[in-house]
Order: sequence, then structure tokens, then C-alpha cells
Amino acid sequence: MTAEPQIASSTEFTNTNLEVLFTEEQIRGRIAELGKQITTEYAGKELVLVGVLKGCCLFMADLMREVDLNLTFDFLAVSSYKDGTKSTGDVEILKDLSNPIRDKHVIVVEDIVDTGLTLSRLLEILESRGAASIKLASFLDKPDPRIKKGLKIDYTGFTVPNKFVVGYGLDAAGRYRNLPFIAVVIDPANA
Ligand code: IMP
Ligand code: MG
Repeated sequence: MTAEPQIASSTEFTNTNLEVLFTEEQIRGRIAELGKQITTEYAGKELVLVGVLKGCCLFMADLMREVDLNLTFDFLAVSSYKDGTKSTGDVEILKDLSNPIRDKHVIVVEDIVDTGLTLSRLLEILESRGAASIKLASFLDKPDPRIKKGLKIDYTGFTVPNKFVVGYGLDAAGRYRNLPFIAVVIDPANA
């Protein structure tokens, strides 16, 4: 007896446990706007994009292709110390920059800012290194849980509600970074 043909089940990108918040087209459009803004504002300056691994990688790759300037980029990786599930704001640099940023105009590129604790501490560390200027680009801004109320995000892709979002670099336990869109996991227990 031959086996019944398999009915195509949902794939990772069509997973019914995901509710799409921002589509690929919306993301592309918004990043083109941010790229134009940065291109205008940094004309004639030595710009370095500093991506915070790993979440930054998709945003960084798309953003830099919309910035029509002579620029370089670098990466760093940090680990945030957590007290239970709460961020304490202490950060350890796991991978430091490959090159000095002294006298350079730096844009730190992040996936999302929520409490802002990790990024505030990271900015303090970078500010001690003598850059000409440091600004912040975060693909997503989740303002509700913000503890560091004074943290200024200079370039924001989208503002999101106080929900756990994945895709476009953002993960849940390492999964979903490759989604080309941003989504909410409807039932995290079923992820
Ligand atoms: P915080 O701003 O110090 O609380 O930490 C922000 C970091 O937590 C981000 O860089 C992400 O790695 C992670 N994070 C916060 N919210 C989310 C989310 O909704 N989805 C995935 N990662 C998140
Ligand atoms: Mg991150």
C-alpha cells in the first residue's frame, strides 16, 4: 500500500503561531528612509557603524546598503548580567571592537531597546573611548519596560507594544532570527 501524500504543513516562515507585526515590505521601506536620513546627516564625516551582535545583523546589513557614504563597520558582543530574569545593567564585553573609534562618528546599531539598561552601560563604555560623536540606531523601540528613561534613540525603525517579538535578527532561545519579518509569538509554550 502506498503512503498518503503529505499535506504541506506550515513552514518556519508561515508558522501559524506567529502574528506578523511588520512585513518585509514595511521593513524595507522604513530602512530606506533611515538610510537617507543618515546619508544626509553624516555627509563628509568619518562614519563607523557598530553593530551589537547577534540581533543587529539583519538590520545592520540592510541599513548600510541604504547609507550612500564612505563608511566602515565593526561589531561587538555583550552579555547582560541578569538577576533572575531582570537585567541588572552590568554588561560584560564578550567580543570587543576590532578597531579604535577615537575621533570617529559612531552609530551603535541595535535590534531592540526595552529596559535600556544594557545599552546605557555600553554607551558609557564607548563614550570613554574618545569618539567624535556617538548616536544610537535601534530597529525596534519597546518603550513600556524602559528603566533608563533618558536613553535617546536617534534612529528608530518601529515602535512595538510590550510583547515579546521575534524575527529580523531577534530571537527566542536562538530561534526565529532568520524570519524576514517581525512577529509576535502567539503561544510561547508552543514555540
Ligand atoms: P535591555 O534593553 O537591557 O532590557 O535589553 C535589550 C536586549 O534584550 C535586546 O538587545 C534583545 O537582545 C533582548 N530583547 C528585549 N526584548 C526582546 C524581544 O521582544 N524579543 C527578543 N529579544 C528581546
Ligand atoms: Mg541585543
